[in-house]
Amino acid sequence: MMKRSTLYFSKNLYDSTFWNRYDALIVDQWVYQRYLNWYALPPVFKLSANERNKSIATLQQLWDFFYRLVLPRNARIGIIGGGMVLDVGGFAAATWMRGIAMDFFPTTLLAQADAAYGGKNAINFHQTKNLIGTYYFPNEIHIIPAFLKSNSIAQIRSGLTEIVKHGILASASLFETVLHRKPQDDISTLEPLIKQSLAIKKHFVEQDPYETQGYRSLLNLGHTVGHALEALHGKHKHGEYIAVGLVVELLTAGQETIAMQLLQWMKVWKFPLEWIKTITPEAMAHKWQWDKKRKGSKGYFVKVQAIESAQLAPLDVKTLLNAFKHLQHLVDKD
Ligand SMILES: NC(=O)c1ccc[n+]([C@@H]2O[C@H](COP(=O)([O-])OP(=O)(O)OC[C@H]3O[C@@H](n4cnc5c(N)ncnc54)[C@H](O)[C@@H]3O)[C@@H](O)[C@H]2O)c1
Repeated sequence: MMKRSTLYFSKNLYDSTFWNRYDALIVDQWVYQRYLNWYALPPVFKLSANERNKSIATLQQLWDFFYRLVLPRNARIGIIGGGMVLDVGGFAAATWMRGIAMDFFPTTLLAQADAAYGGKNAINFHQTKNLIGTYYFPNEIHIIPAFLKSNSIAQIRSGLTEIVKHGILASASLFETVLHRKPQDDISTLEPLIKQSLAIKKHFVEQDPYETQGYRSLLNLGHTVGHALEALHGKHKHGEYIAVGLVVELLTAGQETIAMQLLQWMKVWKFPLEWIKTITPEAMAHKWQWDKKRKGSKGYFVKVQAIESAQLAPLDVKTLLNAFKHLQHLVDKD
């Protein structure tokens, strides 16, 4: 039985009284400086959020932090940050004394609309994304849209990518809403999109919390290619690689119209695309061996049949490489 996480939405940031219910906090360093610096807080571990720090070395530092605090089995910690901080902080909490209580406070659009929910945590290993991790669910997830005011356009488009992915899988109206969204639109109008996105993720996670039925794996749409590209290139935001992964996987599935709609939207949002030409299809193929959907020597990907309809299907590497080359060609033409 999976533990359910309770979702809370709050207009305002919490004050010291609230934060002091925790025995310790793990906080994104940047977020700490910008939002929490002046509060009287319980012991804080400040974490610099980047993919290199999603590592065993960071876990060791977090466990050292818990050790110095003599953190007991019944401790409760708060984790505040984007997906990177939640992933590595969640791993540390899941493994300390075989698991202590934790609450999440996601601070990026991507983390609020996607990463905070679902109990997956991980670190990278040998330049491979999320290779080691556990399923361990936070007790509470607090969505505070006020944190999004400082998200850059790159962070917003990165988060919108995971939302649009949820739209492709389960809601034509969400898909359309995101595609009509412009970079100048007000941040305050994101809240309903976050709610819809989380409702879709919840649906998939509750059907198959530990990804044993192949149903939760559908949330992996765009990630077969996206993770490989992020691991190979790694200079942009997570969602910016997933967006490219979505286009390639849609093309592989023969969904040219949806792929082109998405690519057009990415151009409006000025997603970085130039770098795609620098990736060799061979290097990408090499990274796929680590895709978690692989069974034995067989690769799988999420094949979209139409908006709101997708299934896990065997990966024909040749078709996928052709789709990638096709995208490289399209980007080259611009
Ligand atoms: N566990 C999951 O289900 C899941 C799902 C999707 C993504 N992820 C993971 O999430 C990570 C990406 O997370 P992310 O995109 O949320 O960002 P991040 O945690 O990688 O942080 C990116 C940058 O945003 C900054 N930042 C954080 N909050 C901010 C704020 N309020 N204003 C301005 N800057 C802020 C950070 O300091 C950092 O510089 C990847 O490692 C990915 O693998 C996990």
